Amino acid sequence: MADILEIKNLTKIYGQGKENLCVLENANLTVARGTFVVLLGPSGSGKSTLLNLIGMLDTATSGEILLEGKDITKIKSETKRSALRLKKIGFVFQFDGLLPEFNLLENAAMPGLMRGKNETRRAQNLLDQLGVGSMSHKMPADLSGGEKQRAAIARALCNKPDLLLADEPTGNLDAARKEQVFKDFATLA
Ligand SMILES: Nc1ncnc2c1ncn2[C@@H]1O[C@H](COP(=O)(O)OP(=O)(O)OP(=O)(O)O)[C@@H](O)[C@H]1O
Ligand SMILES: [Mg+2]
Repeated sequence: MADILEIKNLTKIYGQGKENLCVLENANLTVARGTFVVLLGPSGSGKSTLLNLIGMLDTATSGEILLEGKDITKIKSETKRSALRLKKIGFVFQFDGLLPEFNLLENAAMPGLMRGKNETRRAQNLLDQLGVGSMSHKMPADLSGGEKQRAAIARALCNKPDLLLADEPTGNLDAARKEQVFKDFATLA
């Protein structure tokens, strides 16, 4: 079976002309299925840039990104990119990105709903596991940063993504909770 992710000679240059900034230059990376990879680097080194390219939220300057052997940089249609993202990729952003008009449980179950599946029970179990199960009917505005971030993690996991991308997913969490999230990710992988 193909690796879940293979990045070949990936280059990303922001801007153009004299103002341009080359953030990734011929980057290569292979990630085997079922593994858990941590990207480390100083602020501004291009970690979020890379995750955004893999998640099809931004487009590369050159190079290939193979998701299960298929080059996603060749997919130009936003409809197709969105459909693939929904089916294969889970995201946890640095800031939670929850939908403010839905409660935590609805937020966590949202990717399933978008695929026509009711995954409310699974979403509730994940919220329980992450310690925010009792808050499932609260709205995001009424919760702390860490609580929201845990709900965002539940949402990403609920959809059983083939590839889970997490950009500083524990930034708002205390030390014990941080460690638990990494353990959960490793178990899941
Ligand atoms: N849309 C953009 N246009 C121009 N430059 C950008 C853009 N996004 C990011 N950059 C620049 O690209 C570089 C890499 O940014 P990126 O956000 O990938 O870093 P990072 O490693 O995630 O940093 P941090 O640890 O602070 O989150 C930075 O110098 C940043 O200023
Ligand atoms: Mg970043």
